[in-house]
Amino acid sequence: MSAPSSLRIAVIGGDGTGPEVAAEGVKVLKAVAALEGIVYELVDYDLGGDRYLRTGEILPPSVLEELRACDAIYLGAVGHPEVPPGVLERGLLLELRFQLDQYINLRPVQLYPGVETPLRDKGPADIDFVVVRENTEDLYAGAGGFLKKGTPDEVAVQTAIYTRKGCERCIRWAFEYTRRRNNPKRRLTLVAKTNVLTFGHDLWWRTFQEVAREYPDVQPDYQHVDACCMWMVKNPEYFDVIVTTNMFGDIITDLGGIIQGGLGVAAGANLNPDPGGTSMFEPMGGSAPKYKGQRAINPIAAINAMAMLLEHTGHPRAAARVVRAVKHVTGTKMRSQAAGKMGYMTDEVGDLVVQALEEGRD
Ligand code: IPM
Ligand code: MN
Repeated sequence: MSAPSSLRIAVIGGDGTGPEVAAEGVKVLKAVAALEGIVYELVDYDLGGDRYLRTGEILPPSVLEELRACDAIYLGAVGHPEVPPGVLERGLLLELRFQLDQYINLRPVQLYPGVETPLRDKGPADIDFVVVRENTEDLYAGAGGFLKKGTPDEVAVQTAIYTRKGCERCIRWAFEYTRRRNNPKRRLTLVAKTNVLTFGHDLWWRTFQEVAREYPDVQPDYQHVDACCMWMVKNPEYFDVIVTTNMFGDIITDLGGIIQGGLGVAAGANLNPDPGGTSMFEPMGGSAPKYKGQRAINPIAAINAMAMLLEHTGHPRAAARVVRAVKHVTGTKMRSQAAGKMGYMTDEVGDLVVQALEEGRD
């Protein structure tokens, strides 16, 4: 996307520790915007569990329309201990992804300097790949129902929906992205389960083969999802870009999150790449209610989500500066990426990134 003259960014702090980590991303935005001459405007939205408990509202239609009109959405976290599971996840997070047709969920897996991974003999050069997760279909479509609910004969059906249009636009975007990323491997791995899901994943497989013919410079590759989990741990350096379905993408990106040092560093983008589309950027970790207000949670993931926001709103140079500043901080300052073990409080980590930016450590 080319840069609009002024960026209008909606900020949804959300639940638990979401507002605390989002505040650190906003702090870094302020610093890098001053350095890069980026003009922006922030609009705060009170959405999430507290508002739901207070008013019964999750995502009023008028708010959705305001969000649609923004250049990007910056999200902290969704999930509240007093709200039954699924209400906010489906009503707010998935509703935004679906209503704004953010059909790509982009999740880089990259080990930063100084960050500990359970794969101790692997370094930053070995763990650096990106997962492109389809973000609007599959088991997430919410298709299904109960029969004889609450009786001993109860039946529950949850249907995975895959469409040609839905998988093709995601696969095509992933080929384009692999080409653009321009890693020497130039390899796009389709991750699915064609040996069992012989209808839905057959559609993905055939579509992948067809689209691959248009990208002779990208090596098309395939792994079953279970084998992929094994290879992500055994040989993470094999991967360049992975494209996968919504449900499998959810699962393998938590695995990716831990091999890159934990959810304290893992960020994601929910992209609607179409002209005029509104995309949303979020740390991958949840709302961590037990840490709320303790200044313990790692804001690096939220700061990385801000870097992805800058990248996708036409400010790649500012994004790269933020990432370099983050690497300086993980590589030289922080003891650990785990909540409460960082050697710094949440806001102090944000300050360190700002300081690194301002000192030109990027
Ligand atoms: C994620 C989360 C969500 C998902 C939940 C909160 C609905 O786990 O962003 O990966 O399953 O997509
Ligand atoms: Mn998930």
